[in-house]
Amino acid sequence: MSLARIVDWLDERLGIRRDIERALRRTVPAHALGAPYCLGGIAFLAFVVEVLTGIALARYYQPNAAMAYESVRLISYQVPLGSLVRGLHYWAGNVMIAAVLLHMLRVYLAGAYRRPRELNWVVGVLLLLATLTFGFSGYALRWDAATYGATSIVVLAPASLPLGGEWLMRVFLGDVVITGETLTRLYFLHVFLLPAVATLLMLLHFLIVRRQGITGGM
Ligand code: HEM
Repeated sequence: MSLARIVDWLDERLGIRRDIERALRRTVPAHALGAPYCLGGIAFLAFVVEVLTGIALARYYQPNAAMAYESVRLISYQVPLGSLVRGLHYWAGNVMIAAVLLHMLRVYLAGAYRRPRELNWVVGVLLLLATLTFGFSGYALRWDAATYGATSIVVLAPASLPLGGEWLMRVFLGDVVITGETLTRLYFLHVFLLPAVATLLMLLHFLIVRRQGITGGM
């Protein structure tokens, strides 16, 4: 079934064609045409690449302590195009982190965190946290000696928080030391919880941008 027929079908029931056309014809305000204004969109595109390549990787990755490392090697060396898909997932993740940080800097320099955009700034901070947690939890899934060390540092760090640190550490670990249970929890975080939360936050972020428009200036 072609996309046009799906849109026709939905239009007959929901009357969406006019909304889509209006959205596609919207013009970007002249002050927001420069490259710095593309950074949020680049972060979003990188997220889409992450989702698509992540679905392909999940087909072969085995989230258990005995097989995780071997399954990553299998993806890299034996699965057709596995190394390419894994590389794309790795680099799009890095691009996303860099784009989000630069986007945040652009927003800060434009003063777009001020009233009435404080709420969207807070949504942005949550998106930044989600993006960084994506990176950390994904790195842990490799389950080799280097990631074991990095995971220990990141997972044990919350233990020094004065309130609830011990509890947070146990939520990540599933135990008092890193075990197979830690891998299962980080996998759930990386593949189910974070994508769902990040998608909802992005929807909210875009709806607010749509409603408020882009700040002039930088
Ligand atoms: C996955 C992460 C993120 C994505 C996909 C994203 C995407 C976007 C997009 C597409 C826009 C409109 C165009 C633009 O200004 O670039 C925007 C605007 C905005 N973003 Fe983000 N963003 C993310 C993270 C953040 C972060 C970390 C912050 C700040 C802490 C933030 C705060 C804002 C604000 C305040 C605006 C309105 C800017 C204005 O009115 O000029 N965003 N975002």
